[in-house]
Amino acid sequence: MARVVVVGSINMDLVTLASRFAKPGETILGERFLTVHGGKGANQAVAAARLGAEVALVGAVGDDAFGAQLHEGLVREGVSLDHVARIADCGSGTASITVAEGENHIIVVPAANARVTPAQIEGAQSTLASADAILVQMEIPLESVEATLRLGHKLGKPVILNPAPAQKLPTEWLKLARYLTPNQHELAILLGADSDEDFVALMQRAPAPVVLTRGGDGAWFRDGGEPQHQPGFKVDAVDTTGAGDTFNAALAVFLHEGIAPAVRKACAAAALSVTKLGAQGGMPTRAELEAFL
Ligand code: RIB
Ligand code: NA
Repeated sequence: MARVVVVGSINMDLVTLASRFAKPGETILGERFLTVHGGKGANQAVAAARLGAEVALVGAVGDDAFGAQLHEGLVREGVSLDHVARIADCGSGTASITVAEGENHIIVVPAANARVTPAQIEGAQSTLASADAILVQMEIPLESVEATLRLGHKLGKPVILNPAPAQKLPTEWLKLARYLTPNQHELAILLGADSDEDFVALMQRAPAPVVLTRGGDGAWFRDGGEPQHQPGFKVDAVDTTGAGDTFNAALAVFLHEGIAPAVRKACAAAALSVTKLGAQGGMPTRAELEAFL
């Protein structure tokens, strides 16, 4: 069983379904509202656990009702929460999500996620040292992303940096990652490049191996040689929120099989995840993934 440690955010997703997006200053009537558990860190932890990995999460929730519900949900999924802090007098992270026209718009308020510190990550050193793979995203302070990259590298562990939401990062940090897992838009921002630059060219000049996600078109990956394409799996998409998280989790869980099989399984797991509403809805179990393949 693979051991995966995820360092990242935990959010309550406030999801509104509508037939279209509202324009600035406009009010429209939506169709449905739901609160579902999300946050890139929590989503990746849940997806990895469903795929059969032993998972620990390093992160933070607030001492509000959302925090209690999010904590409870992660316990139910079998994620180890010894390194999830409960921050006093602080709200939990939220994501206000509109799903319309087959796409989503998301605004994240980090709240407790902004209180994940380098010291907390260093305090989880023995947990990180037991990992087969470490996952980190960018909804926590950048200094904590850096601390995860440095500690993982020092421990000789493969760190997968999912640079979402994207910001430009120092080349020196990127070199510490075993894989960078952006989409095309995120890769351009991460490298401070022009967003219309060809993604294959960007992959070739990135300072670490890149696994680039392309939505329904699957993924491209490059580890040394020429970039290779893994086609996407055809499904009827209901909600693409969390597809990237499912992809990253599966990549971490199956990394020991080699990059090509891991990317293939990651594309399949991500495809299954978009067939149900909510970031964590549709994330497959290992048996569901195997049946689909
Ligand atoms: O990647 C999807 C996630 O991004 C959502 O669950 C939301 O919480 C935002 O963090
Ligand atoms: Na989903």
